[in-house]
Amino acid sequence: MKRRIHTAVIATVLTILISGAGCQTRDTSVTSSQPSSSASSVSDSSSENATDTTSTSEATPTPEYTPTPTLSPTPSPIPTPVPEYVEPIIEGGPVWYDGYVDPRTVRAEIVSNPEDIAVLVNKYYASPQSYVPELVYAKYSAGQQLRPEAAAAWEDMHDACMAEIGEDLYLISGYRDWGTQTYSFNNAITRRGLDKTCCKNAYPGRSEHPLGLALDINIRSDPEIRDNFINTKAGQWVLEHGHEYGFIWRYPAGYGMITGYGVEGWHFRYVGVDVATEMYEKGIMTLEEYYGKPQIVPTDYNE
Ligand code: DAL
Ligand code: ZN
Repeated sequence: MKRRIHTAVIATVLTILISGAGCQTRDTSVTSSQPSSSASSVSDSSSENATDTTSTSEATPTPEYTPTPTLSPTPSPIPTPVPEYVEPIIEGGPVWYDGYVDPRTVRAEIVSNPEDIAVLVNKYYASPQSYVPELVYAKYSAGQQLRPEAAAAWEDMHDACMAEIGEDLYLISGYRDWGTQTYSFNNAITRRGLDKTCCKNAYPGRSEHPLGLALDINIRSDPEIRDNFINTKAGQWVLEHGHEYGFIWRYPAGYGMITGYGVEGWHFRYVGVDVATEMYEKGIMTLEEYYGKPQIVPTDYNE
């Protein structure tokens, strides 16, 4: 009997020892692959280990650190990406054709004030691609658009010209969007070659037409762009009176090295009465000279 009791006691002790070793092995393996809180939860839910269960229910739980919730910032709306104006790749520096620089070989500064009615835009100062002015349909044209200030001044100038000399001015081309200007430039290269294009056609961003402030004009009975317009009766009247309405002749003959373009007898620019009148009274022929920013010509560049 005594021997039987002794044997039973030994068996019980052995059972307890073996059971504890298995728990430890299992806990170690769980802890090694999980964060401690997860391991604890796995142990708590297990009914296989009486020791762990007792320990969890009886121990005074250590208060866990509860982080103070921080306010998450209100997410800012993700702006719709606007394609950036990509300047042309410049290979080998500026290239001139008969004194007119290829606009694709110079890097223009993007102007920060495209809405300024007297802003200077040329081969060296570009309007941002994203800029689209407020536009209205212009009278005395076939659906051309202009900025409202330019459209009102155009109407006034037209009416004055008609009243004074009986010439019916006509707007052939006003606002041009970026795509139209791109087409116009590329088409000119194909049609007339690169040298003439650099003399007469603006690269996208370098034209005043996308500002809604440039006007290519003639008279209604001859609605075509003509070099000779400036020498006609109507052209001479605009040359003499345009400033009273805020217009300047933008590309006069003999100023190509300053403006970057050859003579354009049809292209006028609205700059407002103040600037146009000041230029007229001081005899300043180009907007580049008005701002003291003539084009960089080949001789300057090589100095
Ligand atoms: N012909 C002028 C330069 C333009 O295209 O804007
Ligand atoms: Zn023009």
